Amino acid sequence: MLRAYYDLPVELADPLKKPVDFFLPKAHVPEHEAILRHPATWQLIARDQLPIPQYQEREFYYKDMELDYWLSGLVDFLKVNERIPDACTVGKKILDFGGATGRVARHFLSQAPQSHTTLSDVNINHINWLRKHFPAQLSTYKAPAIPPLSKEDFPDNQFDLVMAFSVFTHIDQQEIPTLLELLRITKPGGYLYLTFHSDKTWALLPDIFLYQFLKEIPSFKKYQVPSTMPEDRICVSYSDTQTYNCQMFHSDKYIKDVWGKHAIIEQIIPQGHAYQSVAILHKSLV
Ligand SMILES: C[S@@+](CC[C@H](N)C(=O)[O-])C[C@H]1O[C@@H](n2cnc3c(N)ncnc32)[C@H](O)[C@@H]1O
Repeated sequence: MLRAYYDLPVELADPLKKPVDFFLPKAHVPEHEAILRHPATWQLIARDQLPIPQYQEREFYYKDMELDYWLSGLVDFLKVNERIPDACTVGKKILDFGGATGRVARHFLSQAPQSHTTLSDVNINHINWLRKHFPAQLSTYKAPAIPPLSKEDFPDNQFDLVMAFSVFTHIDQQEIPTLLELLRITKPGGYLYLTFHSDKTWALLPDIFLYQFLKEIPSFKKYQVPSTMPEDRICVSYSDTQTYNCQMFHSDKYIKDVWGKHAIIEQIIPQGHAYQSVAILHKSLV
């Protein structure tokens, strides 16, 4: 098979400036606007001295809206801390799996330096970008398209918390092997924080941005929207690469029945990550 784009290093653009240089009195997204109004946010912006990646190097998140890009990661950081007990107290080990160029991980580095953050991503360019522009306190690894993760880099039972934002939304055949790998490297008693397109997300189609993308995919055209999600698991495939090749939807029932065979489903939070749901899994102590 030809090497996929995520294995091919490309020349990287210079990064943009620091968050404080993009400070504006107003954000575009209402949830971001609410955070921006909080008096403590200014201190958090000032504390983050890391550069912002250019649009094409941040998974095309928030075109020309650098402040919203930064605030979106802060919102996720704050939600994780609200939802996971002692998420980043001293010495906690956290993995951002499929973390791209650190939209979320940057906040763990800047706002919670007492914990230790690792980021892995299948895209070599994201890893190269981070190695060039973020400090070495962030451990970074290129993930394989097909599990397992390297046992040397990722020994068993090492993370207190593994997060994957918008990653299980793109994994089809390797879904359970990937979930099992993330559970393998999570400590007994540790947590997984995984976002997914749920039946609640499906119910929001066609009124959400995701629909603009889906409606161009030939394999999506057979579905009627608006509708109730017709199956418990739907894969809308758009490429033949080994991973990052589809948009996945999972009903809450599927998460409870299938993911729930492998870990305790502590909570499912509808729209816990914009229009995606969040599944919080707990690895049992025995
Ligand atoms: C939609 S982006 C989300 C990026 C980041 N988590 C965020 O929320 O800003 C999906 C990311 O997952 C990565 N990815 C996709 N499949 C992966 C896999 N099997 N293993 C690791 N990373 C993967 C992609 O390279 C991309 O950076």
